[in-house]
Amino acid sequence: MSNKIQAAITAIGGCVPPDIITNADLEKLVETNDEWIVSRTGIKERRVYREEGKGTMNMVMPAIWDVLAKSNTKPEEVDFIICATTTPDYVFPATANLIGAEIGAKNAFGYDVQAACSGFLYALVTGSQFVETGKFKKVLVVGADKMSSIVNYHDRATCIIFGDGGGAVMLEPTMDGNGICDSILRSDGNGAQYLMMDAGGSRRPPSHETVDAKQHVVRQEGAIVFKFAVTNMAEVAAEVMQRNNLVADDIAWLVPHQANKRIIEATASRTGISMDKVMLNIEKFGNTTNGTIPLCLWEYEKKLKKGDNLILAAFGGGFTWGAVYLKWAYNS
Ligand code: UT7
Repeated sequence: MSNKIQAAITAIGGCVPPDIITNADLEKLVETNDEWIVSRTGIKERRVYREEGKGTMNMVMPAIWDVLAKSNTKPEEVDFIICATTTPDYVFPATANLIGAEIGAKNAFGYDVQAACSGFLYALVTGSQFVETGKFKKVLVVGADKMSSIVNYHDRATCIIFGDGGGAVMLEPTMDGNGICDSILRSDGNGAQYLMMDAGGSRRPPSHETVDAKQHVVRQEGAIVFKFAVTNMAEVAAEVMQRNNLVADDIAWLVPHQANKRIIEATASRTGISMDKVMLNIEKFGNTTNGTIPLCLWEYEKKLKKGDNLILAAFGGGFTWGAVYLKWAYNS
C-alpha cells in the first residue's frame, strides 16, 4: 500500500470495423506493391469503416460499452470523458460530448484532445491527473480515428499507412502502487508543416477551391517525419525508463504507437527491450492514429499481469510525442 492516489486502467476495450483493405487492394488504386509496403512499413492490411453517415463515435461505441461493462460502471457514475481523436465527428461539438449523450453519462463533462498520433497518451495523462486529485473516480479515456475520412486513396505516400479503429479505457483511483507512475509529454509546432491537413480549419475554411485542390486530407512528408519519429519516440521511452531506474529486464511490455514497424524496432533497440516484449498489430490494422495504443492493450490484455511494468510511447503530427510508465493493475 502507498498513501498516494494513482490512476489505474481498470478495463480496456477495442474495436475495428469489419471491412479490410489489403495491400493488393491498394495496388489497384495507386502505383505500389505488397513487397514495398510490407518491407517499408510492416503493414499487410488495414480496416475501413464504411457505415454511411456515421463517424468516429459510432465506430468506437462497441469498445466503450465493453469498458463500461467490464469496469461495472453505470453511465451516471462516469465523471469525465476525454476523447483523443484527429477525426472528430464534427469540428464542434466535441466527440466526447456525443459519447456522453450516447451512453447517458448525465453527470459527466468531457472534451476532445487533438494531438494526432500522441493523442491517446496525452488524454491518458490528462485523465490520470484528474483521478489523482481524488475528486474524479471514473474517467473514460477514448482513442479512436476514422482515418479513411481524411485519407486520399490516390496518394500512395499516405493511403498505405492509415486504417480505422480505436479503443477505450476506464481510469479509477488505486492506492496499491499500480497504475500510471510517470510520463513525459512533448510537442514542437515547428514540425506542423510536415504532417497536416491543409484546409478545413479557420485559416483555410472549406471552399470549392480547397476541395478541388484535395486539401481536406492528410499530407505527409514521410521521410522527414520518420527521422523525427525514430529519434524522439525512442528518446522519451528511454528517458522515462532511466528516471524510474528501470532497465530492459524490468519491462514486461513496450506498447508503441503503430506507425511504422521500423520506428517500433528502433524504439525497442534504443531501450534494449527485445521484440518479443513489444506489442505489435500494425500488420493487421496499420496506423489508426489515436487508436493504436488502446488496440494493442486490448489485444494483449490476457497476457498482462498485475504489477507488470509497461512503457507506452508515441510520436505524431504536430509534432507531438511522449512516453508513459505504468504498472498494470489487474489480472484478467
Ligand atoms: O503516425 C504518425 C507519424 N507518422 C509516421 O511516423 C510515419 C513516418 N514515415 C514513414 O513511416 C515512412 O516515411 C513512409 C512509410 C511514409 C515512407 O517510407 P520511406 O522509406 O520514408 O519512403 P520515402 O518517402 O523516402 O520514399 C522512398 C521511395 C521514393 O521513390 P524514389 O524517389 O526513391 O524513386 C518514393 O517515391 O519510395 C517511393 N514510394 C513508394 N513506392 C511504392 C513512396 N511511397 C510508395 C509506395 N509504394 N506506397
